[in-house]
Parts: sequence; structure tokens; C-alpha cells
Amino acid sequence: MGQRGTRPLIVTAACLVLVACNPTQSALHPAGDEAAGVAWLFWLMTGVGAAIWLIVIGITVYAVLGRRRPTTEWFADRFILVGGVAFPTVVLAALLVFGLSLLPSWTEDEAPDVRIHVRAEQFWWRVGYELPDGSVIETANEVHLPLGTTEFVLTSPDVIHSFWIPALGGKMDAIPGRTNVLRLTATRPGVYRGVCAEFCGTSHALMAFPVVVLGPEDFAAWLAGEALPASGEADIFIANGCGACHVVRGVSETGSVGPDLTHVASRSTIGAGTLANTAENLRRWIAAPDAVKPGVHMPAFAHLTDAELDALVRFLGGLR
Ligand code: CUA
Repeated sequence: MGQRGTRPLIVTAACLVLVACNPTQSALHPAGDEAAGVAWLFWLMTGVGAAIWLIVIGITVYAVLGRRRPTTEWFADRFILVGGVAFPTVVLAALLVFGLSLLPSWTEDEAPDVRIHVRAEQFWWRVGYELPDGSVIETANEVHLPLGTTEFVLTSPDVIHSFWIPALGGKMDAIPGRTNVLRLTATRPGVYRGVCAEFCGTSHALMAFPVVVLGPEDFAAWLAGEALPASGEADIFIANGCGACHVVRGVSETGSVGPDLTHVASRSTIGAGTLANTAENLRRWIAAPDAVKPGVHMPAFAHLTDAELDALVRFLGGLR
């Protein structure tokens, strides 16, 4: 094999190694019951597949190199019937039954520990936490959830997206005109990464979100903080029309086509998992969002002076 032939192999091997090294976004590092089932199925199928491969290769080697002895027609017929018909039927049926047993049930009688409304939009996530009284606390681009069962209510206003937190379970589409419900049971606290798993436009690959799994008390404390309104000197925000698209509760609540920014400074990323949430990146984002995320609906604010950008970044940086 020449250099040309080996290069794809090396790249593939490197990708496999890199994938294995990212446990925050890996279905093979489960942090929830549904993901554990998927990982189990994967390893079971890999193991059974490898065993069958070894058996077939062994038989092939024997057929080519072994001492040839004539067999009866009866034996040859039985060999094909058992190896070619009965064996695959039994193995595939067993895997099918196991795989079907991992599907979620059609009906859920028990109430979830928390219900989160997720609206997938080009190219970000509107996230709302339903309180016991039915009201919803809105935030964006980051999902916090407690250990236990969370019910995600998935919708989309524009195109089909797919909501996927590999560490917690399988993906589910967010489809315009439909409401899909996905239940996931988190079992291990930590920070994971969710993504959009359905091509939805230019910046489909820049539509991610951190997922923070907390103990029940920590989650309750976080949600109580999230429910509080913001405060701060908002003149620069209002004067430049930011309020036409973004809500900052307690400061400006007129427009809501863009992400809620009430506690934007407490989030770890901006632009839906695209940039680390630093003052420098925030400046970059406001001045030219399209340069960071092609196709983003937010207009560029390139006309702002340095002093105005500073003031805006300072205001947003105070929204903890
Ligand atoms: Cu949203 Cu892909």
C-alpha cells in the first residue's frame, strides 16, 4: 500500500482516538440510563460481530489451508442450513429483541422531575423551565437539569433540527408544527455537550449547547437564581435597539426573537456553544456575528464605537 493508501487509514484511526477522548460528547461515556442502554447495545453488537467475524475467518482459513477431507452431502446441507440460516436468524432476532427493549415506552404515567421546553431555531436553542404553577422561566443555549428524569418538550419554528445529548441518550427531532417529547434520566453529575444532529442550514455545525447535570438541591438553587430579574445600567443596550430582539428581564422585555440574555454572563459559551463567553469574544460577536456564525439572523453592530462596544460588553458581562 502506497502513501496515498495509508493516509485515509491514519486519518480514520486518529479520528477514532480523538472521538474516544471527548467524554463530554460521547455516547460511549454514558451519564444517563438511556445512553447506558445505547452503549450496551453498541458493545454487545461489536462483541457479537467480532466473534462471528473470527468464526467465519477461522472457517475460511481452515477451508483454504486445512487438510481436505471429503464430506457427505448430508453434512454439507446441514452445515449451510445451520450456519447460513438458523444461526443468523437466531442472532439477529436476539439483537432485535434486545434493541427493541431499549426503546422508550409509548405511555409515561409518572410525572418527570422537571419539564424543559426546548425550541430549536436557526441556529440556537430557546430553553424554558416549567415551574409547578405552569409558568416558564426562559433562558437560552445552555441546559441545566437535575439527576433524575427530565422531560424535554421539543418544537421548532423554522426547519427540522435534532436535539441530541449523546452522554444522556438518543436524539429526537424538533419539527415545525409538531411537539415531540423526549425523556432522559441523568445519573451522573457533570458538564456534557449537546448538539443539533439534523442538517438545518449554513451554521448547523455551530448549534451546540453545554449541558450541566446537578444534584437536586443545586439545581433548585440554580433555577431560583435564574428566575430573578436582572439589574444594571441598561442605557447602552436600549439605545442601540438590542431590546428589539433580546429580553433582559427586569430591564427590557419588548422583543424576544433572539436568545434571552437575562443571565447571559453566567453561561459558559456565546453563539450557542460556538465561542467561550469572554469579554473579547462578546465584542467580536456583537461587531460581526456573521463572521463567527455564517447565516446567523443577528445583524452586525459594526458601527458601534470602541467606547460603545466596551459599555455594551460591560453591561452584558454584569448579567450574572
Ligand atoms: Cu439545527 Cu442542525
